[in-house]
Amino acid sequence: MSRINIIGAGLAGLSAAITLAESGTECNLFSLQPSERAQSVLAEGGINGALNTMGEDDTVAEHYNDTLRGGVFMADPNAVHNLTSGAPGIIRWLEGLGVPFNMSGGELILRNFGGQKKKRTAYARSSTGKIIMSAVIDEARKYEVSGLIRRYPHHEFLRLIIKDGECVGVRIRDCYNGRIADFSGPVILCSGGMNGVFPGKTTGTTQNSGDVTATVFAQGSLLGNPEMVQYHPTTIGISGKRCLVTEAARGEGGRLWIMRKSDEPWYFMEEKYPELKNLMPRDVVAREMFFVRRQEDCVGEVYLDMTELPEDTWKNKLSDLREELIKYLDIDPKYAPVPVHEGIHYFMGGIDTDELHRTNIRGLYAAGECTCQYHGANRLGGNSMLGALFGGKKAAHTILSGDYETIGCDDEPRYIDEYEPFAQEASPELVERISNILLSGLGIVRSEEMLTKALSKLSALEKEREYNQRELNRFRLAQAMLRGALERRESRGAHYREDYPERDERFRRATVAQLKGGEVCISFRELPERRAENEDNT
Ligand code: FUM
Repeated sequence: MSRINIIGAGLAGLSAAITLAESGTECNLFSLQPSERAQSVLAEGGINGALNTMGEDDTVAEHYNDTLRGGVFMADPNAVHNLTSGAPGIIRWLEGLGVPFNMSGGELILRNFGGQKKKRTAYARSSTGKIIMSAVIDEARKYEVSGLIRRYPHHEFLRLIIKDGECVGVRIRDCYNGRIADFSGPVILCSGGMNGVFPGKTTGTTQNSGDVTATVFAQGSLLGNPEMVQYHPTTIGISGKRCLVTEAARGEGGRLWIMRKSDEPWYFMEEKYPELKNLMPRDVVAREMFFVRRQEDCVGEVYLDMTELPEDTWKNKLSDLREELIKYLDIDPKYAPVPVHEGIHYFMGGIDTDELHRTNIRGLYAAGECTCQYHGANRLGGNSMLGALFGGKKAAHTILSGDYETIGCDDEPRYIDEYEPFAQEASPELVERISNILLSGLGIVRSEEMLTKALSKLSALEKEREYNQRELNRFRLAQAMLRGALERRESRGAHYREDYPERDERFRRATVAQLKGGEVCISFRELPERRAENEDNT
């Protein structure tokens, strides 16, 4: 088998690379930035797995049910089954790599996270992503030394090489010298979420530009649920971007309130949702914050109040968060509440894959935040690093199980010097204009009027001048997101339509976007039934 090409060296890419290397299979690992600067290092709160170390009788079945319920029954049930059954093994593997999770008496401590009734989130203070990444990067290095993983940092994906409808390789640019080369073999995309589509409005890194997703969409890959954009309830604005205040703050007891004109803080989540309170799923919390700020008897911002947290929590569980808030906001959360706002945080939608991480293009696989199968209409906090690590592993296993056989491919890159239309950058000004149009349609509250207006603005913008290929791809991606939201005439998870405020079971299906003759077409696909053998296992 020729080398497998992995695009992206965050958790999903590293997990795929290590899995391949463990079985003696070689891969190329391409990334714009080194792993140390991948989005995954920004993950804070933790990683979910029903390890039941807290004596709460947690089970994989409950993790499965919470994940499906949190995603409002729009995720692939077999994929979620695989994910939640695999979660304890993933956390134990990380522990084996030496990740210093918070422990007590030799066992992992798990914390509460949104949308889950049991303590299920393993964590390392509030820098879990950074700490997990250093262990996984180190593990990958073993295989870099032996040559099984060949790293290409500062290398940019330009496009897939497709022959007779199959993905047979990838075209890559070396960002230092500008040289372009073709690498043959199957491709696993681990290129992350579409943060760069929303510069300044997202907690994610904009080096995950969305261009990979836009390019493969233009090249024939389907997109699933492109309208499902997650707003994290607690973010703060720093230096023109949104920064995360981890959900762990509420998991450890932080409370949300807004001042009522009566001069009383109103703990609206506690009053409205007495069971899960401040830890309702993110879509619900973000929406409630949006609405209470507009209520006539409320004034100002929503605050996250952590002043009642015990000393031990600040010392051992949220020390990094406290440091950040003091440094960037000049607020010590131990003594004063922090004003927070919803901010774009995660993309539940993306490249359409099945539970084995295969796309509709043979030879092309995808894993991590660039895909769409695990989280439905809303992702639970703590399931993202899990989805990336598990998904990378699963995609690699699919290839290793013989899904794709490459015969007679070149193992070495083939350098080219022909004109490459996909190599031109999108202009930052255009990116910003498209972003503003998208935000006008894809907010926390949406409607037919907002979405049709946004679509008309987008087509007017497209008529303004000639665009390069990457810019055109951005237009198609933006259209897919807006059209998906327009056609989904119901409210579900992160997609709230004020003109269709109720859930409609006719839409309990996956949104599928496809480019046909240059036009974005939206259809809805039935979700797979949960297989009988999966019923038994949890
Ligand atoms: O709030 C957080 O720590 C985010 C975690 C996640 O998105 O999984």
